[in-house]
Amino acid sequence: MACAAVMIPGLLRGSVGAVCTQAASLGLTPSALRHLTLTSVMKSKRKTDHLERTADVIRREVVSAAKVCGAAYESPSVKRLRLLVADKDFSFKAGQWVDFFIPGVSVVGGFSICSSPRLLEQERMIELAVKYTNHPPALWIHNQCTLDSEVAVRVGGEFFFDPQPADASRNLVLIAGGVGINPLLSILRHSADLHRARADKGSGYEIGTIKLFYSAKNTSELLFKKNILDLVNEFPEKIACSLHVTKQTTQISAELKPYSTEGRITEKEIRDHISKETLFYICGPPPMTDFFSKQLENSHVPKEHICFEKWW
Ligand SMILES: NC(=O)c1ccc[n+]([C@@H]2O[C@H](COP(=O)([O-])OP(=O)(O)OC[C@H]3O[C@@H](n4cnc5c(N)ncnc54)[C@H](OP(=O)(O)O)[C@@H]3O)[C@@H](O)[C@H]2O)c1
Ligand SMILES: *[C@@H]1O[C@H](CO)[C@@H](O)[C@H](O)[C@H]1NC(C)=O
Repeated sequence: MACAAVMIPGLLRGSVGAVCTQAASLGLTPSALRHLTLTSVMKSKRKTDHLERTADVIRREVVSAAKVCGAAYESPSVKRLRLLVADKDFSFKAGQWVDFFIPGVSVVGGFSICSSPRLLEQERMIELAVKYTNHPPALWIHNQCTLDSEVAVRVGGEFFFDPQPADASRNLVLIAGGVGINPLLSILRHSADLHRARADKGSGYEIGTIKLFYSAKNTSELLFKKNILDLVNEFPEKIACSLHVTKQTTQISAELKPYSTEGRITEKEIRDHISKETLFYICGPPPMTDFFSKQLENSHVPKEHICFEKWW
């Protein structure tokens, strides 16, 4: 699944030529792109439309071509894509998402990046994990996207973890429900990278402890469980996880058992992790996100220590 350097024909740095092949042949400019995205917003009547919902959210300027160079099922309903990003000016912070432009599909997708910023720096790759729904971008990813498909991506979002070298250590509590694991996995991977960098160089941001609470319907829908447990085993003094399954009908495997609980994440478990040095990041179904952010506020955690990302 590795891929060689990409050459995306017709893509100039800073251009939007890859938004779609049609757009490229029309020689669209950035202002034309804005028009295109506005048109998509107006066309879409669903309140759940990504561009509409995030219209006020900060985005970066760069729209980069990207080429699909890996695809695999992460669970029965979630497909994972690896994209090679062409533009050297494309960068993101752990936790952010991309606008996802597909040639010939007028609806623009919005997907959180689940890989670490380091993977982009080293290999020019980002990863997304997309659940099957009837939303056109998700349908395209599941049914039409192939290796070498070309798309365009633009980074946005205000939900991220990007500590600077001199910042004080913070503990993190990450609370994930279902595919809401995506941005939190990026944050977890980024933290592990920061920890490795500090071990190598003796300088840089010193991470605190990180505790991931992750709930899914059953163990097949627990995405990235191997990656998560690998990080827990690599840095047991720093990273811990508590996996929850809410509709498990079979026996939990011996490997997962020590980390698993049947039933939802409880308010009490989260409350036990409250401290002045702790930041909370929540991403899951909206009722879950609302529930835990309210609980934390009620427990007097300052609002600026509670970060959440709501998807539809
Ligand atoms: N950031 C992203 O990349 C991204 C992209 C698209 C969507 N999303 C969001 O992520 C959500 C997850 O989707 P999904 O279909 O994978 O989720 P899901 O399977 O419906 O739910 C995931 C887990 O969250 C639990 N949960 C739900 N509501 C809860 C609550 N109020 N309190 C505690 N636990 C609760 C569920 O438990 P039960 O089985 O008991 O309900 C289940 O174990 C979507 O609804 C969407 O909002 C995020
Ligand atoms: C999890 O649920 C899905 C669909 O409900 C099912 O296909 C799968 O076999 C289940 N996996 C386990 C381990 O129970």
